[in-house]
Amino acid sequence: MSNKIRLIVFLALYTTISVAQSVTPTKKADVFFNEPEIAHKVDSLLSIMTIDEKIGQTVLFTSGWDVTGPTVRDNVMEEIRSGRCGNIFNRHTVAATTKLQEIAVNETRLGIPLLFGYDVIHGHRTIFPISLGESASWDLEAIEEGARVAAREASASGLHWTFAPMVDISRDPRWGRISESAGEDPYLGSLIGAARVRGFQGDNLKDVTTVMACVKHFAAYGASQAGRDYHTVDMSERVLRETYLPPYKAALDAGAASVMTSFNEIDGVPASASTHLYTDILRKEWGFNGFVVTDYLAVNELIPHGVAKDKYQAAKLSINAGIDMDMEGGAFMENLKKLIENGEVTEEKLDEAAGYILAMKFRLGLFEDPFRYSNTKREKKEILSKENKEAAYQMAKKSFVLLKNDNQVLPLKKNQKIAVIGQLANSKRDMLGSWKATGSPKEAGTILKAITKKNGKKNTTFAKGYTFKPLDFDHYDNSGFEQAIKNAKDADVILLVAGEHWSWTGEATSRTNIHLPQIQKDLFQELAKLDKPMVVLMMNGRPIAIGDEVDASDAMLEIWYPGTEGGRAVADVIFGEYNPSGKLPATFPRNVGQIPIYHSMKNTGRPYTPGVSKGKYHSKYLFTKNTPLFQFGFGLSYTTFEYSDIKVSSNKVSANDNVTVSVTVKNTGDYDGAEVVQLYLQDVIGSVTRPVRELKGFKKTFIKKGKSATVEFTLSKDDLSFFRQDMSWGTEPGDFNVFVGGDSDAELKVSFELE
Ligand code: GLC
Repeated sequence: MSNKIRLIVFLALYTTISVAQSVTPTKKADVFFNEPEIAHKVDSLLSIMTIDEKIGQTVLFTSGWDVTGPTVRDNVMEEIRSGRCGNIFNRHTVAATTKLQEIAVNETRLGIPLLFGYDVIHGHRTIFPISLGESASWDLEAIEEGARVAAREASASGLHWTFAPMVDISRDPRWGRISESAGEDPYLGSLIGAARVRGFQGDNLKDVTTVMACVKHFAAYGASQAGRDYHTVDMSERVLRETYLPPYKAALDAGAASVMTSFNEIDGVPASASTHLYTDILRKEWGFNGFVVTDYLAVNELIPHGVAKDKYQAAKLSINAGIDMDMEGGAFMENLKKLIENGEVTEEKLDEAAGYILAMKFRLGLFEDPFRYSNTKREKKEILSKENKEAAYQMAKKSFVLLKNDNQVLPLKKNQKIAVIGQLANSKRDMLGSWKATGSPKEAGTILKAITKKNGKKNTTFAKGYTFKPLDFDHYDNSGFEQAIKNAKDADVILLVAGEHWSWTGEATSRTNIHLPQIQKDLFQELAKLDKPMVVLMMNGRPIAIGDEVDASDAMLEIWYPGTEGGRAVADVIFGEYNPSGKLPATFPRNVGQIPIYHSMKNTGRPYTPGVSKGKYHSKYLFTKNTPLFQFGFGLSYTTFEYSDIKVSSNKVSANDNVTVSVTVKNTGDYDGAEVVQLYLQDVIGSVTRPVRELKGFKKTFIKKGKSATVEFTLSKDDLSFFRQDMSWGTEPGDFNVFVGGDSDAELKVSFELE
């Protein structure tokens, strides 16, 4: 019997068994899912699978098209053909995925289709700003749209699954993966994570223009000690639950289909072996019914972590903790059968793991048609479509954060002589940042090209000024200074593009300092001596310590890595066709010594208030201010906004009532613009110490020049709740302060008492 016919017969068998069983639901059906029809199909399929075939479903191998970790094998065809590997990542395009799917469907006994996954983090082929940049837009609709575009392109390329959103709260700029995050704040990070899941998955996983999301990296990967990637994470259960878990929960509440483990240990237990995280919290407490995949080789890494002596023990720890799929390491493939034979892992546990994965393949419709994502016509139409590039362009503009604009140097007038300086100004590759998926530098427009197009060749010069040697931070070659300074002298305005080489951000790129390379620092100073208007564009994947450079500049715009359409987005903002509206999603420290520094810190018993506190015995530094270079939520505009008339619905609030806060915001400048109106809450006294303030609301509001808007927020009981001293979640009576403004230093305040 040919494989295709066998599969058709087989599917008929599923249905028969399912219908039959629908009369008498099996125990597993109740345990697995709240979708009896899917559960019965899974039960039926499991009931005729061999142990080897079930193990095959728990195996994920890279196809090697992209390198996202250490390479441990080079040929997956045999594993697919033998049914030992049921899932593939790092392979895309319809042609390439179809080839592998045909092997799985036609050459294995049961023809169970493969899942295809890939790191589509901020775009698939049309690349959006890096995630930290997208987050700086504080525009949830635009962020969701970005994920939607990525899903359309990824699914058109034969992919079913993206390893995103990364929702790790990141408060340490030394950690290169802060670039992939939504920054420091659980409230903002939760809303962004949920928006990305909605964008990726839509409201029906069977829709072939959607892909499964994968919430990562569970959990608390961003708290790696000293910002060193893969390093130890150790924190109280309170901090874990109050700060680090909320974005994962929000993404799962938005329906995320899968979860990826983190490399780190927490409280002594590596995540990929953590029963507390994966069984107690994820399954039992949160009722998650998707599947869990480890990060790259993370099962094998239980050995160097020191909790497993070999892959046999590592596989046992991991699957028994509640992990369903082993990425790349082969530990499940090589050991689960023996573990079951030895009674160290039950077949029920294997059924559960394989079952969650098979359920997802059913939900995607892959058993009905394993090739439903393989449509070359759609691939050709979708990739880099005009609509997708427009969405990337719009997001890029919204992601930029105006950090300084003395004397309204920006926006620039056209036909001025502009000296564009800096290797990054003319680099296509750097525009895409890290985790660029299938984004191609040749499709990215540079900043230089876009500025020249708007300003004219005769009025625009270029000089590299500095150069990078990617893996040599101290590379120092100032031979480009002379030309840069000459161009600057001949110009009306200097447009300097500075920052980090794209390869200094993303995975395994931790740094022990967060300042610019000396060569760039010196160039800033040389150009500042010319006393010419100097506008700086910063391209970086982390908050960086640029105090001296800010002082040397007249205007500074944070543009992150702005993506395929970032060049024209920069030009439009520089020349005033779009008024920058971004706000920082992470605090910018003055220097690395201040880390960790974020807006929702505690007051301590010896707080320091500049100009007020007397004497030495305060929580402060000898030679540096406590305040950051730029605070969380900060971002200027070409216009100005004035806040007034803050009101609260009642000064005494009962425990179950909502609280409404309203404020008037007036555009008092010369440009229409959008302002992210932010609300911060302070619970003054608690049974445990409470942050000096926490973000509990924001509204991005467009206000025409000269006009005003009344912005209203509603605070629920949940917004006032926290993990009290006994770790119960809830409120406590007492005083609350509410601050509303354009960043986390908001001063306009109103208070109420919770009874
Ligand atoms: C990498 C990353 C993870 C990514 C995975 C697959 O090591 O940690 O974020 O999704 O491997 O490429």
